[in-house]
Amino acid sequence: MGIEAVRAREAAHFLPVVNRLPVALAEGRGSRVRDTDGREYLDLTAGWGVCAIGHCHPELVEAICEQAGRLMQTTNLFYTLPQLDLIEKLAALTDNALPRVFLVNSGTEAVDGALKLAHRATRRTKFVSTENSFHGRTLGALQVIGQAKHREPYAALLRAPHVVPYDDLAAAEAAIDEETAAFVVEPVQGEGGVNVPRDGYLAGLGKLCRAKGALLILDEIQTGIGRTGRWFEWEREGVAPDVMTLGKGLGGGVPIGAFLCSEDVAKTVSLGDHGGTYVGNPLVCAASNAVLRVAERDRLVARSEELGARLGERLAAFAAEHPALCTGSRGRGLLRGLVLADADRAAQVPRRAIERGVLVNVTAGRVVRFFPALNIPEDELWSALDTVLAVVSS
Ligand SMILES: Cc1ncc(COP(=O)(O)O)c(C=O)c1O
Repeated sequence: MGIEAVRAREAAHFLPVVNRLPVALAEGRGSRVRDTDGREYLDLTAGWGVCAIGHCHPELVEAICEQAGRLMQTTNLFYTLPQLDLIEKLAALTDNALPRVFLVNSGTEAVDGALKLAHRATRRTKFVSTENSFHGRTLGALQVIGQAKHREPYAALLRAPHVVPYDDLAAAEAAIDEETAAFVVEPVQGEGGVNVPRDGYLAGLGKLCRAKGALLILDEIQTGIGRTGRWFEWEREGVAPDVMTLGKGLGGGVPIGAFLCSEDVAKTVSLGDHGGTYVGNPLVCAASNAVLRVAERDRLVARSEELGARLGERLAAFAAEHPALCTGSRGRGLLRGLVLADADRAAQVPRRAIERGVLVNVTAGRVVRFFPALNIPEDELWSALDTVLAVVSS
């Protein structure tokens, strides 16, 4: 079925809250996807940073099929081994700095869980967060989101926000007080424009929070699971948060999120504090276990750091050669952004790249974002990059 036919059918029933691009995807394998007309694209979006090990990795597909034929869903009242394996593995990946894990169905639910936990642990109600941050779209996450366009339409349902500039310790210090339950922050802002803070920011936030008895919640939903060249970006400064949220790459394509916390925080919860029909069901946990197994065996975290550094060099060189088009580039690992000077030109990039067989995203108005699968073959990465740079410069 061609794109026009798909569009016409969808127009009758889809709630129009998403501005779609003119492609209907039908298949994916690795970093290549195919549309309903059979046209192929190189995918630099990896399903919004989700497909960490590529589309339909055979081991992921096999794990899902195998688990689907065995047991998909239980009530959360029962133990299951896939869930046990996953929470043990996640705790181990934090070196047991965050030994307590609760699984949920999405990133935004992980943020909600983290906020509830911080309230439980501190009995306080004030949350401080950062300008341009993105934490999800449920009402809990909207309470701390730093982007007015998402928050404002629902402001009547929310409390007054406490939002400070990102990467600004003085502003954080002024905002964190004895009423603050937690400071909520992304270690690198993803949706906000791939913003990388200065060294020492996260460690500094940790100190500020401790001094006031507040918690530090790191939202690693986009940065975690190797995306920025570490299992979790906080490893770079060696300072674990009190609570961490995960999502996206954790499931490699199945809907799963998690929040993890220290033993001190965990002590404050009571039975019944959180739950959910599907949370941690065996199907998604088996998928997630497969993602982590492949990522570890194939050393994809180190690859993200190394290949990402080379991608960063190429973007920096391009930006330096085209000062009229680009104001810079930034990022960590395989989360990279090329900052265009002109928002109108940036807005055209995804459609023009599609015409040339590449899927790429623009975020925060002017930032062309690269967040491919961590195992994207090098020739595909460089070929897709050449295409995007040609689009930007033409
Ligand atoms: C940092 C961060 N937090 C939270 C979310 C929300 O995750 P989800 O869309 O799975 O609810 C996102 C999604 O882009 C994100 O990037």
